[in-house]
Amino acid sequence: MSHTIERPNTANKREFYKELALQLSGLLSGERDPIANAANMASLMYHTLPDVNWVGFYLLKEGELVLGPFHGKPACVRIALGRGVCGTAAQARHSVVVPDVNAFPGHIACDTASRSELVVPLIAGDMLLGVLDLDSPSPGRFDDDDRAGCENLASIYLAASREGS
Ligand code: SME
Repeated sequence: MSHTIERPNTANKREFYKELALQLSGLLSGERDPIANAANMASLMYHTLPDVNWVGFYLLKEGELVLGPFHGKPACVRIALGRGVCGTAAQARHSVVVPDVNAFPGHIACDTASRSELVVPLIAGDMLLGVLDLDSPSPGRFDDDDRAGCENLASIYLAASREGS
């Protein structure tokens, strides 16, 4: 089965994320495999969100974040909890918006083009599964609407990919 990706046609960010959420629900429906769903979600987000150069997953394995499905340039593979933006969001278990990565102590530069970043932790019940990471070449690209929109997309991913339900 092939899927068409449509970039939501609206300048209103909240509307944009609402439409993207509908597309994501459709894309993930009927499949529970967490890697397959993460791969399709990274593709959908990369191809629809304006002004991003990296969208992907780091998944928690044996206490460390390990690179998962993504779109963008090759990235660093392992990130310790508490390190970089990803490790910080994972350890704190809340989203982190970084308007200027050069001003974030310990930021891990995978793609030197990245100037701002948003990381959303993936938490199922009380279990940390990993993080969803978005990078932009523009400073200050991500605001509170992006945070809320991406948190909602992450919750759709978690609900769709729940094993054994
Ligand atoms: N910048 C991230 C590392 C991952 S890349 O952006 C894909 C960080 O500081 O955790």
